[in-house]
Amino acid sequence: MGMESKYIWMDGKLVEFEKATIHVLTPALHYGAAVFEGIRAYETSKGPAIFRLKDHAERLIESAEIFGFRDLEITAQDVFEGCKAVVKANGLGDCYIRPLLYLTGGGWNLNVDGGRGALAIAAWEWGNYLGEEALAKGIRANISSFTRHHVNVSMTKAKVSGNYANSFLAKTESVRLGFEEAILLDAQGYVAECTGENIFIVRRGKIYTPATAPVLEGITRHAIHTIARDLGYKIRERPISRDQLYSADEVFVCGTAAECIGLSEIDFRKIGDGRTGPVTRSIQKVFHDAIRGNDPRYETWCDYVD
Ligand SMILES: Cc1ncc(COP(=O)(O)O)c(C=O)c1O
Repeated sequence: MGMESKYIWMDGKLVEFEKATIHVLTPALHYGAAVFEGIRAYETSKGPAIFRLKDHAERLIESAEIFGFRDLEITAQDVFEGCKAVVKANGLGDCYIRPLLYLTGGGWNLNVDGGRGALAIAAWEWGNYLGEEALAKGIRANISSFTRHHVNVSMTKAKVSGNYANSFLAKTESVRLGFEEAILLDAQGYVAECTGENIFIVRRGKIYTPATAPVLEGITRHAIHTIARDLGYKIRERPISRDQLYSADEVFVCGTAAECIGLSEIDFRKIGDGRTGPVTRSIQKVFHDAIRGNDPRYETWCDYVD
């Protein structure tokens, strides 16, 4: 994956890609003491637009506060402006944007107050996280042998870098077993989410998704909720068991990196007829119009770079 670009935003200014470095003893590297966002920009008829940038910028600051950062000098407005600046300076259209707010200058005593927060933002061209064929064919997933975070062990609403050790465990296992993605169950044994996506099932024309308590409140999840309702589907949050996945008519996952992708198979059991189903397709279509600024109902979700 080519992540190179000309510039990275660091501490309030653009620096050349090669010069965007931090010291090996930065505590964020040792303990995952950082929070991050994953954001996408899309080429539209009015130039590049960053999808739901305000929501992502606000979630980054919320994540930092949940992790324990106090008196942060970095604001959501800084993140908002930095993301636009990095896309513009690199001349990017369709791209992925990665803001990282990390603990530096102290923190070796495992105390957030021992250091300060610093912000870096990179952007690069990146295709679909689940592979280029995912949209056309759907993906195969397994139920992970690893459990998703308990709500009082890791803060599930915060995109804390250290939390993603759990995603690494599940995803590595899943890919080594020959699947494309892992579905994690929560500490009670109900379906939680994937390593980087929220999950939905369709059964007899109705859509169900787990409540947000043990999972990340995905911004794409919210967009999909809104689109599905506007399409006239009934959508409910409720606990979902493993076998309800197996017997669903359709299962799909969504996230910024993956966008909205159908599941063709889970644990060697075909979902529906093994192809992305009609409900998923109808939502995907509107979602793709929305991210490119082609649907006036959702234009406020697009933050134009210029
Ligand atoms: C664990 C997890 N769940 C869900 C999501 C989807 O969130 P979003 O739609 O805000 O990208 C992500 C991606 O950030 C994630 O890492």
